[in-house]
Amino acid sequence: MGRPKLLYRWFLVLLLCFECRGCLEVERAALLQIKDSMTSPHESAFSNWYGEECCEWEGIECGPTRIHIHNIFFHYWMDGGNGELIQPWYPNLTLFAQFQELQELELPGNHIRGFLSLHAFSQLKWLQRLDLRDNSIQDGSSLCWGTSPLYFLDLSGNMLQGNVPDCLGANLFQLQHLDLSNNPFNGSFPALLISNLTKIESLILSRNELHGTISLCIFANLSKLNELDISFNHLQVQTEVESSSCPPSFSLNSLFLGGCNLKKVSPWLLHNITSELWLGGNDLTGPFPWKFHNFSSKLTSLDVSNNFLHGTLPRDINLNFPRLRHLDLSKNSFNGNLPPFFGNLLQMLHLSDNQFQGEIPHSMTSNMSCLLYLRLSGNNLTGDLFSKNSSLPKLRRLYLGRNQFSGTFPYVLSKSVELEIVDIQNNDLSGELSSYLPVLPKLKHLLLGRNRFRGQIPRQLCQMRDLNVLDLSRNSLSGEIPDCLDNVTSWTDGSYPPYFATDSWNSIEIFINGILLSFEMMISALRGIDVSSNRLTELESMDLSHNNLFGTVPRELTHLEFLEVFNISFNNLSGMIPMGKQFETFSNDSYLGNPDLCGLPLSNKCDGNAKTPPVYGGAKMFQSLPFGSFLISPSSMQNGENTLPLSPKTKNHVFRKREMMPAITESPNVAVPRQQFGFTFTECTCRK
Ligand SMILES: *[C@@H]1O[C@H](CO)[C@@H](O)[C@H](O)[C@H]1NC(C)=O
Ligand SMILES: *[C@@H]1O[C@H](CO)[C@@H](O)[C@H](O)[C@H]1NC(C)=O
Ligand SMILES: *[C@@H]1O[C@H](CO)[C@@H](O)[C@H](O)[C@H]1NC(C)=O
Ligand SMILES: *[C@@H]1O[C@H](CO)[C@@H](O)[C@H](O)[C@H]1NC(C)=O
Ligand SMILES: *[C@@H]1O[C@H](CO)[C@@H](O)[C@H](O)[C@H]1NC(C)=O
Ligand SMILES: *[C@@H]1O[C@H](CO)[C@@H](O)[C@H](O)[C@H]1NC(C)=O
Ligand SMILES: *[C@@H]1O[C@H](CO)[C@@H](O)[C@H](O)[C@H]1NC(C)=O
Ligand SMILES: *[C@@H]1O[C@H](CO)[C@@H](O)[C@H](O)[C@H]1NC(C)=O
Ligand SMILES: *[C@@H]1O[C@H](CO)[C@@H](O)[C@H](O)[C@H]1NC(C)=O
Ligand SMILES: *[C@@H]1O[C@H](CO)[C@@H](O)[C@H](O)[C@H]1NC(C)=O
Ligand SMILES: *[C@@H]1O[C@H](CO)[C@@H](O)[C@H](O)[C@H]1NC(C)=O
Ligand SMILES: *[C@@H]1O[C@H](CO)[C@@H](O)[C@H](O)[C@H]1NC(C)=O
Repeated sequence: MGRPKLLYRWFLVLLLCFECRGCLEVERAALLQIKDSMTSPHESAFSNWYGEECCEWEGIECGPTRIHIHNIFFHYWMDGGNGELIQPWYPNLTLFAQFQELQELELPGNHIRGFLSLHAFSQLKWLQRLDLRDNSIQDGSSLCWGTSPLYFLDLSGNMLQGNVPDCLGANLFQLQHLDLSNNPFNGSFPALLISNLTKIESLILSRNELHGTISLCIFANLSKLNELDISFNHLQVQTEVESSSCPPSFSLNSLFLGGCNLKKVSPWLLHNITSELWLGGNDLTGPFPWKFHNFSSKLTSLDVSNNFLHGTLPRDINLNFPRLRHLDLSKNSFNGNLPPFFGNLLQMLHLSDNQFQGEIPHSMTSNMSCLLYLRLSGNNLTGDLFSKNSSLPKLRRLYLGRNQFSGTFPYVLSKSVELEIVDIQNNDLSGELSSYLPVLPKLKHLLLGRNRFRGQIPRQLCQMRDLNVLDLSRNSLSGEIPDCLDNVTSWTDGSYPPYFATDSWNSIEIFINGILLSFEMMISALRGIDVSSNRLTELESMDLSHNNLFGTVPRELTHLEFLEVFNISFNNLSGMIPMGKQFETFSNDSYLGNPDLCGLPLSNKCDGNAKTPPVYGGAKMFQSLPFGSFLISPSSMQNGENTLPLSPKTKNHVFRKREMMPAITESPNVAVPRQQFGFTFTECTCRK
């Protein structure tokens, strides 16, 4: 039995040896020169770039014979992680032309400003896919590299301005996918160029400064077109296409016409588009435009937010739109009751800032088992939140603030264990909060301010270890702040979860200084607690050292008559230290590491200009916005209530040790992705 095994081993060695011949020396040498031309690659780039076998190097893929390099992927290999300035990169295309069989070249996010030896581009006969997004290419002529068989070109998020260069249309007749979004192109709409792209399937020109009046007719001959996005330019777009002069040959899956100055909606948009229709931020008026008998749309996403639509929604909206997963009607003037049901495939429903009234229909909360996201803030809704047999098992984000809901906290949410955001602020809820608040293990933001909740601060909060923002302000809570809040690790461990760029879908609303602010970016980095304006026990200890607090120290703190330990060391506070009462007993040790503080007990005297608090009218102090800091607000005195807020009573460290926010590494023109919800649509097969 030994022999065959031996043979097999030989075979293996032979095979391995065939492979170990490695990539072509000339290509390997070119790679090393390219590496050297990248002046500030990020630390982990090129980490395994050694040895002969460059097919194994990170970012490199060879063809099946493992001789020629086929694909190169340097995704965000140059960055200013530490905020340092980065030299722009001018890749030398003579070097890239050494890769005779190069098919895919992806260099997003590498501070490319232009190219050296542009003419060499025409030697890349096999290149099909070129991804240069999120760079800083300014000059359109650096895109005129001669004919090539490209079928995919992404230039989004660069600094290209003026007209879209004609050479693109003349040279890229094979293109199937073209993305020029998020540039400052400010010429007129490149209609002629586009008519040359006869094979185009996906065309994305959104978020430029293109201007002109165009009709969708100009796309009529592009028979392969299935995705078109011209949102947020300065265009006047006409959607009528069914005249005999331009019979459309395309059949669109997705059409994005946000901010296109549309005044009305042509019926074909609803009848013919098979998946996504985005019409937010236009001038649409009148009632809900699509109330048809015997009509059932194929749309899966519909967005008409931010228009001037009014009137009631059709009760049987689910029959007209049976496939909807995503519906955004926010920021209009719709009124009346909510329809009983939106279809059981719906995953995201956004109806904020309208004038809906009445209760949340029972059928909505018991029958929409796919719902991930429900946003009804800023309406005039009333009644109990959810009835006992509600079931929203997948719900992750719930926003019901700024309505007139009453009753208790809906304990039925204990079944929604995926919840990350619960915003019920500014309603009329009451009852003993600690009796109704379930433990929601994934909760990150809990906003219950401006209601009438009673009782102790619930100890359940301590088991919600990921809580980032807790707002219990302006209720009637009493007792102490539980020590166990130390268990909420997001306040103590100093690490920040990765942030994600967002859009208004992801925003959260927080009252600061009595003003409702909407945070749309990086909400995952927001941290804060606000328990002001309740009836909490007097504070004995307040340790806020090692935060990023700035501003002045509010004089109102002298009202904290039971305060024994006070520590605001290592912040960035300034101005005069308040005098009187307990403050006579604190020593220098309480104020270390705030170079701009002055007055006793410090030796640093205040000059005449020292800002004396309260600068913010004594309202919310210690606010160190925007990100990575606490929003803390002992504003109760403002209301004359003798009730005091703020941190835990004993020697715990809930507010300790905030590290500085890590520098945010974004190039100046990082594009906000067109649709990023922080989570993706999942398949949901809930049809019963
Ligand atoms: C590009 O690289 C080639 C080959 O190394 C070199 O000969 C040429 O001078 C370079 N071009 C520029 C503009 O540096
Ligand atoms: C369209 O393509 C033809 C060649 O196919 C070219 O001659 C013409 O200039 C192009 N027009 C535009 C506007 O790009
Ligand atoms: C485009 O922007 C540039 C720079 O702001 C400006 O000089 C140019 O006149 C603009 N072109 C048009 C057509 O608006
Ligand atoms: C579409 O093609 C027809 C026939 O070739 C032509 O008459 C018409 O002008 C074209 N329309 C556009 C917008 O290019
Ligand atoms: C819409 O579809 C109908 C057939 O279902 C077709 O006759 C019509 O031309 C299409 N309209 C557009 C604009 O695609
Ligand atoms: C709706 O469709 C049904 C059957 O499909 C038909 O009987 C009825 O006449 C249609 N109604 C209208 C208003 O088209
Ligand atoms: C749930 O939806 C089904 C049809 O999808 C319907 O028959 C049922 O009555 C609904 N249940 C409630 C409570 O609305
Ligand atoms: C809200 O509803 C109440 C009672 O139905 C009504 O009196 C009030 O005017 C409504 N407010 C708004 C802003 O629509
Ligand atoms: C759920 O409870 C409501 C009353 O709160 C009741 O009308 C309804 O029939 C119940 N539905 C189911 C499916 O049990
Ligand atoms: C807090 O954490 C400690 C240890 O991790 C645990 O023993 C304690 O039960 C937790 N307290 C609460 C209220 O969750
Ligand atoms: C502290 O505040 C000053 C002025 O308010 C500001 O210039 C400085 O950057 C701040 N330092 C930190 C570490 O936040
Ligand atoms: C305040 O905190 C700092 C840093 O943690 C510490 O050095 C100082 O002794 C503390 N002061 C008091 C009064 O506890």
